Amino acid sequence: MTKIKPGIAVVGAGGWGRNHVRSLAGLGVLRAVCDRDAKARESARSTGASIFSELSDVLANDDVKGVVIATDAPSHVELAHAAIAAGKDVLVEKPLALTTDDARALCEHADHEGRVLMVGHLLLFHPVVQRLKAMIDAGELGEVLYLVCRRLNLGVVRRDENAWWSLAPHDLSIASYLLNDSPEAVSARGGVFLQKERGIDDVVFGTVRYGRGRLAHVHVSWLDPHKVRMLTVVGDKKMAVFDDASTDEKLRVYDKGVEPPAVVGYEEGVRVRTGDVVVPAVRMAEPLKLEHEAFLSAIETRHAPIADGWSGLAVVQALEAGARSLAANGAEVKVER
Ligand SMILES: NC(=O)c1ccc[n+]([C@@H]2O[C@H](COP(=O)([O-])OP(=O)(O)OC[C@H]3O[C@@H](n4cnc5c(N)ncnc54)[C@H](O)[C@@H]3O)[C@@H](O)[C@H]2O)c1
Repeated sequence: MTKIKPGIAVVGAGGWGRNHVRSLAGLGVLRAVCDRDAKARESARSTGASIFSELSDVLANDDVKGVVIATDAPSHVELAHAAIAAGKDVLVEKPLALTTDDARALCEHADHEGRVLMVGHLLLFHPVVQRLKAMIDAGELGEVLYLVCRRLNLGVVRRDENAWWSLAPHDLSIASYLLNDSPEAVSARGGVFLQKERGIDDVVFGTVRYGRGRLAHVHVSWLDPHKVRMLTVVGDKKMAVFDDASTDEKLRVYDKGVEPPAVVGYEEGVRVRTGDVVVPAVRMAEPLKLEHEAFLSAIETRHAPIADGWSGLAVVQALEAGARSLAANGAEVKVER
């Protein structure tokens, strides 16, 4: 007997939401699409899903078990509360919310109602991030000392959020996942160039401090000539570079390190070790499809997915600390829990 998969609705079929529509239709679980915009509704019509302009119509549909919210960030919280109250499991695009209080209230609401709450931290489902996580957990890189995350491009320039809120959720979610920790403090400096009247930072250099002195440097920008999606992980045994813009060598592992001599004398420095560079074969799959499969699995098993609401809250806490630091010209701000 074929197992019936839970029906899913997408709310917000704009620039990014249409990818949710495509992927969920491909998985055969798309039941409904909702958007206030007629053009967005029209573009989803060929999927054969029911098309609505109001969330209430989606929520009244008993075939819909899960709702993906891919609207603009300020609307996430209200729509997610409504979906949870209607008994739906919810996948909310990043950032989960724009304040720690809102994010926490959403997590508590979902827990209280026994609903799945997941956040669209897409890159946690990237096969290379999964491989890196397995390598780190197995001790292959040794102790991870610091990470450098760079997410740069020319555009998309947002009007309602700065580059930190728009792009850094990915890097903060990856850093915390790989380090298996939550940030302690953030300092961030930004530059406002394109929309001075709105005070929106186009580029942000963030330094995120974790326990045991570990660091993540997060450089995000939509005002850069290059498309860069690069993560460097420096461990005390090996180092790894994830270059998502590369087509065939997304992951490189460097057998490089620095070893202090057993006894440090006046003339002795540290010994630099340069070994092989290995390009592990990572079987690729579309991260969005893997994210959807994790959502479907959470709906069926009732087990929290890796990108659950609480991990979304931790990212919002770090984003908020970063925003405070930006306003304070880069002063280090403790992450409030
Ligand atoms: N995971 C990723 O890699 C990734 C990438 C890009 C964007 N995003 C996130 O996806 C979300 C959407 O971004 P976007 O670029 O697609 O924005 P967008 O403005 O292009 O699309 C948003 C859509 O939501 C619709 N909408 C807004 N409020 C609504 C409501 N109450 N009911 C029904 N429809 C409503 C709008 O009409 C619009 O079509 C944001 O949270 C963004 O951060 C995630």
